[in-house]
Amino acid sequence: MNVRALAAQVLNLVVEQGQSLSQALPVLQKDLTPKDKALLQVLCYGVLRTLPRLDFFCRSLMQKPLKGKQRVFHFLILVGIYQLLYTRIPSHAAVGETVNGAKALNKQALKGMVNGVLRNFLREQEALIEKADQQDTLLYCHPGWLVKRLQSAYGKEKAASIMLENNQQAPMWLRVNALHHDVKSYQALLTEKDLGSRLALDSENKNALCLDKATDVYQLPGFEDGWVSVQDGAAQLAAHYLDAQPGDLVLDACAAPGGKTVHSLERQPKIAQMVAVDADDKRLVRVRENLERLNLTATVIHGDASTPDVWWKGEKFDRILCDAPCSATGVIRRHPDIRWLRRDSDIKELVSLQKSILNALWDKLKAGGILLYATCSILPDENDLQIKAFLETHADAKLVPLSKQYASTTVGRQLLPNDDTMDGFYYAKLQKAD
Ligand SMILES: C[S@@+](CC[C@H](N)C(=O)[O-])C[C@H]1O[C@@H](n2cnc3c(N)ncnc32)[C@H](O)[C@@H]1O
Repeated sequence: MNVRALAAQVLNLVVEQGQSLSQALPVLQKDLTPKDKALLQVLCYGVLRTLPRLDFFCRSLMQKPLKGKQRVFHFLILVGIYQLLYTRIPSHAAVGETVNGAKALNKQALKGMVNGVLRNFLREQEALIEKADQQDTLLYCHPGWLVKRLQSAYGKEKAASIMLENNQQAPMWLRVNALHHDVKSYQALLTEKDLGSRLALDSENKNALCLDKATDVYQLPGFEDGWVSVQDGAAQLAAHYLDAQPGDLVLDACAAPGGKTVHSLERQPKIAQMVAVDADDKRLVRVRENLERLNLTATVIHGDASTPDVWWKGEKFDRILCDAPCSATGVIRRHPDIRWLRRDSDIKELVSLQKSILNALWDKLKAGGILLYATCSILPDENDLQIKAFLETHADAKLVPLSKQYASTTVGRQLLPNDDTMDGFYYAKLQKAD
């Protein structure tokens, strides 16, 4: 097992064949030792965070690009350059192990080529870096369409800081199960195990703890007994804003893998019925697993949120969470492949899907009921503009102010990546006229 060769294969699957990192990585890392697994992750996440820059260096050093079956060696070279630029692995080891990767990929003959490109990079890196820093897409390592959209939404300076945040590693946030502990008593249990953590800055984020350092979930006290779950701090605001009450009939319309479904149930055990719906049958397995681990109950339905009449004949809901399918541009720190898998044209399609889901769900909300719209996007088209248009076309909808309004938005709350070290997220709370 040569970890560099495995990384090149994963990257080839993601960048060339459009697989997500969470699909490709587990398959290829399954037989590795924990140390090699960690290195493979560092290499894959790292290369995807810096892809256009590494691509540019590689292209500048080669006469013609590697294509077809040899394309995997292009990624092997990127893995090599990544180590030289961004890791503390000594240059001789980085080059040596990467060159051995060519042998592991059954192309002994390409060893010389890989070696030559990496050694040329070491000689020419200063001039190449200077050139790369002159282009926004290479400086910020985001595709041109996303650079443009972020600059037009936030201005050049703010967009630059968002993109730099997107290239950082996200911290590990925990959600303490309110049915077992309050956040401070669970924090004390972590301290006993030498696991440092801090509370969220936002006082309404009552169950959230941010770990000083990521750890294996099985090191967390009571993880298997459901005392705690892993969930970003921004995502945890959903249950607080939804604020389900005793006796409520609640719908989580785009529920998988179920993080927000179970949080609402932990927070309000007297919910009359929780209905969790998702269009992806496979992802619903995760909802059921989460419910089981946490010993909670919900009605799990495989269905399309834009056609609720097909799967719901019951009474209308008191509260609806619409955690809509979106560009996921707020969680690029956690999923560096998103920016390469998404296309500019996807945004228009997503906006139209979100609109049809919102319209259909509104019909299933009781008079006086609450609908919380959420996305993990930072693009106004999917957020403020979407909700503004909804309010303009629904006279019976009123915006309920969230406890904190951000100056950057006019409608809902837009969290940007790294606000209190959390993910980028959007919330807007709507109430139906009585
Ligand atoms: C942002 S994720 C939801 C995350 C989830 N709420 C949580 O907190 O764990 C969006 C979900 O919407 C689902 N989805 C996409 N299109 C849908 C549709 N038309 N109807 C219902 N679910 C849909 C996807 O399968 C995905 O699981």
